[in-house]
Amino acid sequence: MILITGGAGYIGSHLAMALLESGKEIVIFDSLELGHIEIINILKKSGNLKFIQGNLKNLDDIRGAFLVNKIDSVVHFAAYSQVAESVKNPQKYYYNNVYGTLNLLNAMVEFGVNKIVFSSTAATYGEPEYVPIDEKHPQKPINAYGSSKLTVEKIMDDYDRAYGLKSVRLRYFNVAGADSKARIGEWHEPETHLIPNILKADETKTFKMFGDDYDTPDGTCVRDYINVEDLADAHIKALEYLTNGGKTDYFNLGTGNGNSVKEVFDACEKVLGRKVPLEICPRRDGDPAKLVADNTKALEILNWKPQRNLMDSIVSANDWEKRLTKLKAGIVL
Ligand code: UFG
Repeated sequence: MILITGGAGYIGSHLAMALLESGKEIVIFDSLELGHIEIINILKKSGNLKFIQGNLKNLDDIRGAFLVNKIDSVVHFAAYSQVAESVKNPQKYYYNNVYGTLNLLNAMVEFGVNKIVFSSTAATYGEPEYVPIDEKHPQKPINAYGSSKLTVEKIMDDYDRAYGLKSVRLRYFNVAGADSKARIGEWHEPETHLIPNILKADETKTFKMFGDDYDTPDGTCVRDYINVEDLADAHIKALEYLTNGGKTDYFNLGTGNGNSVKEVFDACEKVLGRKVPLEICPRRDGDPAKLVADNTKALEILNWKPQRNLMDSIVSANDWEKRLTKLKAGIVL
């Protein structure tokens, strides 16, 4: 059985859906602080899913998951992930993302489970010294979110040396899109990410573009938008890699292509078929001008290749936004 922490959240639920559809048995462990029970209920329609509500900060909660299930590998998503919040409240980030993960790793050691795929982030690199960013790029995070994830990466190296716990750390760039059948998707309260914020904007809620004076071709920030279903596929490949005896390793997950905020905005207007009210605002603190992945290593070692482009992500995100509105209103299940 595969244990997914944070499986009621955005990326975790897409991996859960992909695994269920391929007939795998999974256990989702989620506190539901940020994840949603509605997502669990939707996932249950697609296969053999067991759900445990628990918090990684309570060792007994996570030990309980290993006690009653025959778990052979773990995919660990559960974390706080808001950069700005992490700068204001690092305590919250270290306590949850580091201490919570320690409990998970200690339970794995206790129960003899030695394979984990971990959600890491491009934020572990900090301000880029060069782009595209490969895995050899120095890791110098500039916020507590990135530092908390980098700390976990280091702990995982020590746990491999001491206990033989094998890990694959996947460093995501900007995750985008939703399930192509619009069953599940991105659902953050509040939403801070670019694409959902453009799609949600209307006459009552102007979209705020943070900075158009960066040193980039059109003055807005450039990011590498990786589709969430492609990302789920990378996790499946990483699990296969570990099952086949792969060593502890880390990979960037991005498309290798950058798109500016303006390009994303224009593409969203095209998909929506309407104008989106726009306000140019000052730069947001801590936003680097350009983040693009060099994804060669994942291509070579995991045999993973993104299949979907930015437009696919925006179309699926828009279909999901429509469904989410109905879901929140209790119109659909
Ligand atoms: N942006 C806007 N308006 C918005 C939201 C975003 O202009 O309402 C801009 C941002 O300023 C940025 C770009 O759109 O230039 C992308 O912003 P996101 O918030 O969507 O994503 P980030 O690049 O800030 O963050 C992502 C992940 C983080 C991760 C980080 C790695 O969400 O978890 O990449 O650097 F830490």
